[in-house]
Order: sequence, then structure tokens, then C-alpha cells
Amino acid sequence: MGEALKKEFLTGSIRARRISTACGAEITGLDLKRPLGSTEVEALHHVLGENGILLFRNTDLSPDEHIAFSRHFGELEVHVIGDFALPGKPEVFVVSNVKEEGKLKGAVYAGQYWHSDLSYMKKPSMGSLLLCREMPEIGGDTMFANMYLAYDTLSESMRNFIGGLSAVHDYSHAYDTYFAHLKERPPLTTGQRAKTPPVEHPMVRVHPVTGRKALYVNPGFTKGIVGMPRDESQPILDLLFRHSTRAEFIYRHKWQVNDMIFWDNRCVTHYALSDYDFSVRRHMHRTTLAG
Ligand code: OGA
Ligand code: MN
Repeated sequence: MGEALKKEFLTGSIRARRISTACGAEITGLDLKRPLGSTEVEALHHVLGENGILLFRNTDLSPDEHIAFSRHFGELEVHVIGDFALPGKPEVFVVSNVKEEGKLKGAVYAGQYWHSDLSYMKKPSMGSLLLCREMPEIGGDTMFANMYLAYDTLSESMRNFIGGLSAVHDYSHAYDTYFAHLKERPPLTTGQRAKTPPVEHPMVRVHPVTGRKALYVNPGFTKGIVGMPRDESQPILDLLFRHSTRAEFIYRHKWQVNDMIFWDNRCVTHYALSDYDFSVRRHMHRTTLAG
């Protein structure tokens, strides 16, 4: 990222256009409803790894087509909290503020903090494909931050220091902090907690496709550094959180209905803005690729 699009990764009629200096490429010339060939899948993996997110406009995919397209890129995850799935389609995680007959149709207040999906799992998600079904006229954007740039712009001393460290990630951290006062997001049950014990990941990861190093900590789920007491680790993490979300590293997406964004959890973090009128429907479908 931060360099020109590499044309050699494209194939057939597929075209990619950068959408910001921070990250992101819009893909055109691809029919998402038909099966992809292995050359196309490989090309898209490269453009994704280089750019962090792929934007597809006017997708108009049914849930089954969304699942089928996503499966080209790997196996799909089913979320630990089953309540948020689309009825009959466990692979589709619903992010929504829509209530029907008093019941929410998906995860509300999801991702309203910087995070990388499922970094709290032993095998975090490789990527997610979020499809916009309903969106307020104004607000409800999603921001994406480039973790290659975050890493590259640290001093050499800091890069060396964190390069040897691992951090602790914990799903409960989001519940204890961001969801603490939200009745719609009660604490995890003992069963859910048992499926999501704290895990450790290196603070710097090498992206398997690009070979580039990316910072891998996020304020949503990262709660400590292995081998350090909190009074040492928290100031370091706070510094990295602040640095990694500098405005220059961010692409902010204003959604249109039928936009789909495929982001790479290995090199970008994301943040859902909660700046809109909650009586207006915001409804999204997400498939999640296993790591
Ligand atoms: C997610 C998420 C962001 C949004 O689905 O993983 O963080 O803007 N959603 O809804
Ligand atoms: Mn997310």
C-alpha cells in the first residue's frame, strides 16, 4: 500500500482503482454472481493484500450469492454468538439496529471501536466481506486504518522493540469497556466466555501474500502485552493505538446500499461510526473468512 497499483496482479477484465492514499481499491469488471477462476481469485488476493480493502459497488447479491462469492477466498467462520446470524444462514453475521417484534435482527453497536475481526480468537479471521443492505442518508460510515503504514512509520527502535513482543487479546475486553453500559450487549455468558479465552498474538505480523510487516494490536480487543504488568503495557499500547489511527492512515467509507467491502484483517483495522440517528435503519450482512 502507499504505492501505485501493481497492474501485473490484474487478470482478464478485472480493474482496480485506488480510492485513497491510505488504503483501498475499487474493483470493477467482475461479475460477482458467477464462479471465479483460480487466476481471478489469486489476483484478488494480491490486490487485497496490497490495498487492505476491496470495494465492490452495486453488488445486489442474495445471501446465498454473498456466501458463494466469499467461499472463493477461504472457509467461512460461524460467529461464537449464534444470535446474530441470519435465520437459516449461520455464515451470515448480521450487523443491525433494526428491531422487529421487539427483537434486534443482528449485533447492535458492533465494531464501534477500532478493531480487527476475531483477533481474540486463536486463529483470527483473515478477512470479512460486509454488504450494505440499508443505510441512513447521513452517517454510519466505516473507517479503515492501514496497519502496514502504522508499522512502517514507527521509529526503528520501536519497530525492533515490539517486533519481539506478543499481546493479549480478549473478546471480553470490548464488553467490559465499550459495551459496559449497553443493555443490548449483556456480558458474555459462561459458555461464550469458555469459547473465547484470552489469546496471545505477535504484535507485528508478516502478511503471507505481500511479505510486508503490519502492526497487529487494536484497542477493541488488545488488553495487555505478554510479560508486562499493566502499568508498563498500557502506555505502550495507548501510544500504538494513537499512532496507528492517525488521519493519514485512514480511509473513511460512506456506504451506498449494495456496496460490499472485503477487508483484510491482517493489515487493516476498522471502526464503525455511531454518529447517526438510531431510529433510522442501518442493516449489514457480513461473511467472515477463517484465518
Ligand atoms: C463488522 C464491523 C462495521 C460496520 O461487521 O465486523 O465491524 O460499519 N462492522 O458495521
Ligand atoms: Mn468488525
